[in-house]
Amino acid sequence: MDMTGKEIVLGVTGGIAAYKSADLVSRLRHMGAHVHVIMTKNATEFIAPMTFQTLSNHPVSVDTFAAPEYWNVEHVALAKLADLFVVAPATANFLAKMAAGIADDMLTTTVLATKAPVLLAPAMNTGMWTAEATRQNVETLKKRGVLFIGPDSGMLACGDEGAGRMSEPAEIAGRIGEILQKKNDMAGLRVLVTAGATRERLDPVRFLSNDSSGKMGFALAEAARDRGAEVTVVKGNTTAEVTQRIRIIGIESAEDLLKAMMEEAPKQDIIIQAAAVADYRPAETAREKIKKKSGEPLVLRLEENPDVAKEIGRIKKESQTLVGFAAETNQVTEHAKEKMKKKNLDMIVANDVTKPGAGFNTDTNIATIITKDGMEEQPLQTKIQLANTILDRILFLRKG
Ligand code: CTP
Repeated sequence: MDMTGKEIVLGVTGGIAAYKSADLVSRLRHMGAHVHVIMTKNATEFIAPMTFQTLSNHPVSVDTFAAPEYWNVEHVALAKLADLFVVAPATANFLAKMAAGIADDMLTTTVLATKAPVLLAPAMNTGMWTAEATRQNVETLKKRGVLFIGPDSGMLACGDEGAGRMSEPAEIAGRIGEILQKKNDMAGLRVLVTAGATRERLDPVRFLSNDSSGKMGFALAEAARDRGAEVTVVKGNTTAEVTQRIRIIGIESAEDLLKAMMEEAPKQDIIIQAAAVADYRPAETAREKIKKKSGEPLVLRLEENPDVAKEIGRIKKESQTLVGFAAETNQVTEHAKEKMKKKNLDMIVANDVTKPGAGFNTDTNIATIITKDGMEEQPLQTKIQLANTILDRILFLRKG
């Protein structure tokens, strides 16, 4: 990832994870960023300013009331300079001060003055992270658009186990890269994405479903959100995490999906149907758990589900862009093209799920993007990368 010339202000507060931030500084510098570190007084108890000074090759601002003239000027300069403001680790105390707008040292003063996006990597004891006061502070900050990464769960320095460990520097650096590269080319667009697998009930404890993880759908939703779109996800069963600033509508079956989509679709500009929808459902759903009858085969009768994409294709408005997915195992592009036509789609993303690294439950995908104008094969890449390419092509289509 290239961060050449980007100015990152890194706040380091007083937690044991402060030592990990040294690694973060190295990573960011390797990627070409200029890093300016501000430490709280408590942070200097955990790691020496000289470490950050050496790694960042910039002077480190440390809170001291000894030189007020220095930080009066400096805090404004750094606040203005920042392309991105990161605080890692961010202690419970720092979150509380930031939420309240307290500016009693160099770091809190600078972060209050900045107009740059702010990313916080909290690190604290589980009890402090889950405390009502911290929950409310996090909520307040999120509402103001402050971004968070982590904390992760695991064994903490204090011996407790649970959420509170600072995200790994590599992960924080990755998130920083994403934020810095963020374009705003989808601002004002409403995007609806379907993600995950439907579940078709057999009885109260059993269902028919498929291997979809929802990762591709969520990658699309997050990428569109990061490019400024207003995003709604209609979500079946997924392993992908639900993330911030995305509206979620939960559904179980294909019929639920159809109902939600008929309601939501007319309000959208772009509709991307990445859900793996069951084509059939049990003809009857038993009210009680189906009992085993030894020695007898169990025959299930299935009936056809609605084709949601086709129904949405029917009510499509001229201004809307409809995108579908096609998971295939043979004659990939032929089948995909047929589906595009049948469902009145503007684009279909086809993948051969038999290829390693493609399809269900992976973090990568190999796909062919097909439109009326032609097709374009995409090499193996992460689902986030593919998501951004798909969005680029959608915007291109909408221009034409
Ligand atoms: N789709 C849908 N409703 C269904 C089945 C599929 O909305 N009942 C959507 C999917 O979300 C996807 C596209 O249609 O965007 C293609 O899905 P796929 O399962 O590949 O195609 P099918 O039409 O079901 O065809 P087949 O299973 O025969 O390959």
